[in-house]
Amino acid sequence: MPNRGGIPLYKLEYKMKKMSLWLTIFALVSLAGCSKTDNYAPPENASGEDIFYANCTKCHKPETGSVMALSSSMANKDAIIQKVQKGSMGMTAFPNIKGEPAQRLAEFILANSKTK
Ligand code: HEC
Repeated sequence: MPNRGGIPLYKLEYKMKKMSLWLTIFALVSLAGCSKTDNYAPPENASGEDIFYANCTKCHKPETGSVMALSSSMANKDAIIQKVQKGSMGMTAFPNIKGEPAQRLAEFILANSKTK
């Protein structure tokens, strides 16, 4: 059947390919955009609880008796501090929560969380 649409098929195909390339790039960029960095730096004397309620409850809603449900691989101070500083696809990174305040934050979470 003759193509009377004006745009030759091979050109249409090329356009579609270009479009899906852009869609892919766009999807990748917006995914990467989910992981953010928060430059909040806690006061030197902030308690773990202060830091938690100032930054984490936006996303982690504490339930009665437990601020978080930790997977067993996360149930130690190092893993928690790593997670806080590095973040993830879904979680904001807090590179400036470090040193003593980071230790206190991790202790607070460990002491007040369930382990899954
Ligand atoms: C923008 C939302 C957001 C904020 C703010 C946030 N988190 Fe998260 N957090 C997540 C998401 C989503 C996950 C699950 C995905 C993952 O493990 O990375 C998570 C996972 C975690 C985990 C791992 C839990 C497990 O056992 O797998 C810990 C620990 C944690 N967050 C601690 C914190 C602390 C502490 C703060 C505050 C300093 C904080 N988060 C702030 C979204 C957030």
